[in-house]
Amino acid sequence: GRANWAYSSALMTKALPPTRHIVSINDLSNKEIETIFEVAQGFLQELADSHIPYRIARSTGLASKSILASLFYEPSTRTRLSFETAMLRLGGANITSADPAVSSAAKGESLADTIRVISNYCDVVVIRHPRDGAARLAAEYSQVPVINGGDGSHEHPTQTLCDLFTLRSKKKSLRNMKVAISGDLKGSRTIHSFVYALARFGATIDPLPAPGMELPEHVARRLREEFHCQMVSKAPDQVGGAIDALYVTADQPHQLSLIPDPDIDYGLLVQKKIDAVYVTRFQKERWAEKDRPYPKVDAEFLGQPKFSEASVMHPLPRVNELDAALDSDRRAIYFQQAAYGVPVRMALISLLLHLHKNKSLHQFSGGFAKPEHPIYAQPIGTGVTCGNRNCIVADPAERQYAANKFYVIEDEARQHCKLRCVYCETDIEQETADQFVVSDSTRKTFSPGLRALARLPTERLKHLIIYRSVSDAVAAGFQPRDNGKKARAG
Ligand code: NCD
Repeated sequence: GRANWAYSSALMTKALPPTRHIVSINDLSNKEIETIFEVAQGFLQELADSHIPYRIARSTGLASKSILASLFYEPSTRTRLSFETAMLRLGGANITSADPAVSSAAKGESLADTIRVISNYCDVVVIRHPRDGAARLAAEYSQVPVINGGDGSHEHPTQTLCDLFTLRSKKKSLRNMKVAISGDLKGSRTIHSFVYALARFGATIDPLPAPGMELPEHVARRLREEFHCQMVSKAPDQVGGAIDALYVTADQPHQLSLIPDPDIDYGLLVQKKIDAVYVTRFQKERWAEKDRPYPKVDAEFLGQPKFSEASVMHPLPRVNELDAALDSDRRAIYFQQAAYGVPVRMALISLLLHLHKNKSLHQFSGGFAKPEHPIYAQPIGTGVTCGNRNCIVADPAERQYAANKFYVIEDEARQHCKLRCVYCETDIEQETADQFVVSDSTRKTFSPGLRALARLPTERLKHLIIYRSVSDAVAAGFQPRDNGKKARAG
């Protein structure tokens, strides 16, 4: 009857225009990021404190019929409160689950089920979770837009929007800007989203990691391979480690990362002063060892001539890595950076919910940097697993829901193929060309190597199961394809 009809129509939301989820900074095109900034700037012009131009002090009624759910499985101050303030300043309302101990997570409920339930209670969800890839999994189960408020050490895209907006308020263009990133580059999710964006907008990145806390290899590799960064040694005469190098973005995005861009004066960039230094805290909750040597940014550090005009940024919270004595330094802009969380998040929410009358802003509904790679979705309980132990697919609570799922990626020379986890975006590399084997579940046979898969559409990968090795495939009951042929021939 009627009730049934209402129920099934609610489940038919798939037929509506696709729901946008902001899980990675790479879910937004550069143009969309610019649009967010224009809208944020508009809110500041309209609603800022008359004495403090970066502080939103008044509200609009734009979101008066909308509800934001904040679902936080990890501590947060700025992200949750600035999202909730943003929603209130838009005239909307909030529902919050900020303590896993008092939600059904404590009873063992999966994230997948929680999202299926609460996405029927609200119009947009912001989620923070200790597992890498949790926000992508949540998005798969949500009826409404999911915004990633930080997932493990993977990404924190809205922090990056605040960071870029702050940099933009200082400089007109990010192109040719040189940004130093200091501290725990491995564990900091803010850094991972930030470096992708810096590369995409043409900035030069100068990594200053704490010992052993360099950018994760898969992030560094994406900077080079996907975002066309070129590695330039800071000290060409010394054979230093990979970290003693800058990432310079080529002007022409199609240029291969190994070919120097003739328009870039690399020597000049190496010598160029730093425009901003971005400091991060030791992410101790993501490391087993709690006490490690860590760089401190203080007046002495910033006394180096190359930092004389550098804005000092920090996503906060700070612990010991950023001296409080710097708060009165003219270069310190971290509290302003945190204040921008409100207009920037107001802009993002209002665009995702299509709340603007201006029709051109409704175009904020495409432009995802869609992966061009085929996706291999594996049946649950068999085949190759994501190698990242903190990935959401490794979470015992999600096992029933979270199948391993990978992009199949071939390098430009078509020599080499790898799998990248769709959730945490960690790559599984092949050590030898034929390390993986691909099994055909209808024929019960397998053959070595992934290479052929990268050129197939996702549709054609459905009956396949990938194993890490021949012995895994044999243990699962498959036999080599060539054996089959020989048997038939004989
Ligand atoms: C960051 C985070 O949660 O990743 N905090 C924030 O949202 N500003 C940074 C941090 O915790 O170090």
